[in-house]
Amino acid sequence: MNGTDIILSVDQLTVRFDASPPLLKRLVTGAKRRTVHAVEAVDFQVERGSTFALVGESGCGKSTIARTIAGIQAPTKGAVSFMGVNVAGFRTRHAALPYRRNLQMIFQDPYASLNPRWRIGRIIAEPILTHRLMTRGAALDARIAELLATVGLSPKDAQKYPHQFSGGQRQRISIARALAANPAFVVCDEPTSALDVSVQAQILNLMKQLQRELGLTFLLISHNLAVVAHMADRLGVMYLGRLVEQGDAEQILARPLHPYTRALLDTVPDPHAPHRPRARLSGEVPSPLAPPSGCAFHPRCPLADARCAAERPEPIRVDAVSVACHAVAEGRIDAAQPDRPKDQQSLEQSGDAA
Ligand SMILES: Nc1ncnc2c1ncn2[C@@H]1O[C@H](COP(=O)(O)OP(=O)(O)OP(=O)(O)O)[C@@H](O)[C@H]1O
Ligand SMILES: [Mg+2]
Repeated sequence: MNGTDIILSVDQLTVRFDASPPLLKRLVTGAKRRTVHAVEAVDFQVERGSTFALVGESGCGKSTIARTIAGIQAPTKGAVSFMGVNVAGFRTRHAALPYRRNLQMIFQDPYASLNPRWRIGRIIAEPILTHRLMTRGAALDARIAELLATVGLSPKDAQKYPHQFSGGQRQRISIARALAANPAFVVCDEPTSALDVSVQAQILNLMKQLQRELGLTFLLISHNLAVVAHMADRLGVMYLGRLVEQGDAEQILARPLHPYTRALLDTVPDPHAPHRPRARLSGEVPSPLAPPSGCAFHPRCPLADARCAAERPEPIRVDAVSVACHAVAEGRIDAAQPDRPKDQQSLEQSGDAA
């Protein structure tokens, strides 16, 4: 990356939640304050026109990062800079408007995210009217028809209500609404995990086509590695609030370095080598209320030693990837494992991995 094309920069982002019992209860029972370490010191950058994917087990902080980028959640520490502007720095709603126009979100559940009492035309018009890009009238109607056609629906669908559509069609409507204000950046939080596999592929292909045509940038959150393999240019692997490995998606998927990434990839069935030995991911994700010392993955890691339990690993670079792992840094992990061709991880094979 050459620095000039960075549309989003996340620097040392930390988000913590206070999950303490109420004060009176603490006084009576002597219970301590409790803090959820949802996101810890996360650093990544997204190049304009590309797709950056975040993966990791449930509860590792993916949606919290998405909400912080969207300005819905304030960071505890660190900064998010979008198109050169500090996201947390807006004093008023008005000041944030141009930023919000350029950054839209698509959510997992196309049932919950569309207002059931509004017609599709009104749902899609809303961002256009909010950002005062057009006023009501024939031009707006034409724009809505154009947006519906863009996502493969009929202009007549503007008169219908959300319940008259299938899940895949509703996600197309969500995409049309996200595109209505001509954004530069779309945050997609599990955009297809509520859909059937065949419909999933259609939506992902539509997203890719729109990205090419409109020069969109995506932040894609998914726990499905097949979806990520299909979409991502760059990939960030999260574990318990931290990025443990990030960089070129193809390299990570072919030659994962971090033991957690390897275990995650091993959950994807491989029809070409069904009996290959697999590093099963054992145990549960520890609680973000009390992250383990040192490397947070050490209690589940087959390669962990005393240093891993005591000292947090700093990221080091290996080719186009940055990875935070003592075993990799010390050469204790076999870096020259056989490549896995990307096409082995097609949508049909994976289902919901991880
Ligand atoms: N408002 C909140 N108050 C307290 N804890 C929260 C809050 N929001 C999120 N958390 C906690 O922060 C952690 C990260 O949550 P987050 O929703 O970001 O995970 P995720 O990676 O998106 O998970 P999933 O894959 O299940 O969607 C979780 O432990 C969650 O319980
Ligand atoms: Mg989530």
